[in-house]
Amino acid sequence: MKEIKTIGVLTSGGDAPGMNAAIRAVTRTAIYNGWKVMGIYRGYEGLIAGDFKELTTESVSNTIQRGGTILKTARSQEFMTAEGRQKSFDNLVKFGVDALIVIGGNGSLAGAQDFAREYDIPIIGLPGTIDNDLYGTDSTIGYDTALNTIVECVDKIRDTATSHDRIFFVEVMGRDAGFLAQNSAIAVGAEAAIIPEDKTDIDQLEQFINHGKRKSKNSSIVIVSESPKDGGAMHYAERVRKEYPQYDVRVTILGHLQRGGSPSAEDRILASRLGYASIEALLEGQRNIMIGIQNGQVVYVPIDKAIKKDKPIDRELINVLAVLSI
Ligand code: F6P
Repeated sequence: MKEIKTIGVLTSGGDAPGMNAAIRAVTRTAIYNGWKVMGIYRGYEGLIAGDFKELTTESVSNTIQRGGTILKTARSQEFMTAEGRQKSFDNLVKFGVDALIVIGGNGSLAGAQDFAREYDIPIIGLPGTIDNDLYGTDSTIGYDTALNTIVECVDKIRDTATSHDRIFFVEVMGRDAGFLAQNSAIAVGAEAAIIPEDKTDIDQLEQFINHGKRKSKNSSIVIVSESPKDGGAMHYAERVRKEYPQYDVRVTILGHLQRGGSPSAEDRILASRLGYASIEALLEGQRNIMIGIQNGQVVYVPIDKAIKKDKPIDRELINVLAVLSI
């Protein structure tokens, strides 16, 4: 295998708090081991365009506490084409990059997988997404911060919901995964969570109204996982207005504020450990794996497994919320 002298690092897809801590850890661990680090800007878009700049120990100073990503990010359509990936490889050769660290979510690691199949370049993925939807890791960089942001917001919504005796449907992000919704619902003491993983024959809204909405309670918080398929929080609010007009209903869509802010201590530590481990993995000769965390231990997960397998939600979390919200 070719000796590594220079690595490239990029962030791709939705930004997530803690990405900067990961870039910092990758950069400093690589430099510690005598390697040069090229920062690639705007994810795969910058890889295609040749938007590369060397990162030094100093260029990642004072970044661990910052949200977003100093390397910027993008969702690249062009990288999905063979031509886009060819241009990307040509740029890696041009800049002398021998291995690539990709920090991103499901779509970004899927792109990395395609690239690794076509070209001889070791790639290490780091799970960077607030959605926590990558298989093989208990948590992803940004998830804990987003969860805490949701909790902070919903605590505030609770004040006004109680004062007005209203039902609030609060929509949270997560794409097709209900981790943010289910766990934030437990953390805020919500009356119910509506998540994609719990799609059974049972109507989750009816279940909430008939069983979950305790008679003595006048206000309720229902956390709804975003879902383009069934229309999210708006859809459920409309249904209540039509089917149960006796209730006063409001909707809050938390949106992109869930992605911003200074990373939590947990995300900073996770990102630092995973970033460090990505360089250790390259030193061991690993390639085409995602670095994850399981039961507090760093693990290597083949990228195709991380992106292809559905990460299951612990059914016990559903029972916990159901019992505690009576
Ligand atoms: O994957 C992260 C995420 O924030 C999802 O939760 C959400 O569905 C999506 O990105 C939003 O993407 P965009 O910022 O491109 O609108």
